[in-house]
Amino acid sequence: MIKPDAVGAGNTGAIIKMIEEAGFKIVAMKKTYMSKERAGQFYAVHKERPFYQDLTNYMSSGPIVPMILEKDNAVEDFRKLIGATNPQDAAEGTIRKLFAKSIEANAIHGSDSDENAEIEGRFFFADVEKF
Ligand code: TYD
Repeated sequence: MIKPDAVGAGNTGAIIKMIEEAGFKIVAMKKTYMSKERAGQFYAVHKERPFYQDLTNYMSSGPIVPMILEKDNAVEDFRKLIGATNPQDAAEGTIRKLFAKSIEANAIHGSDSDENAEIEGRFFFADVEKF
């Protein structure tokens, strides 16, 4: 998911280009928006964390671009492509190093397991939207 800071800064196209050049197939994609409540559901795993309110305010502050991606070893390879959560720690050439503004406004989300990729894909897309 391309997050509101990166969409707002006009970096959607550059990020999609990096994703495709890294060998990911885009199975589904759209530009959409999460209400504060939906953002809270998406990040429910963090609801006891001190950053939860700020995070859900931020994630509902503008449009996002969720995608379902396909590749061998997709979860691990995508986490490598996006870089560390905090852009200050992200490796050179990663999406967060290039485009993230802060640990909160960090440009992009990637699922952390195959199981969560399945759940998060269903959060945004119906089966008829996938090809
Ligand atoms: P997390 O799942 O730890 O990171 P990642 O997105 O790399 O899987 O955290 C989810 C999001 O929460 C993260 O992308 C940005 C936000 N966040 C903060 O705003 N402050 C923090 O201290 C942390 C750890 C995360």
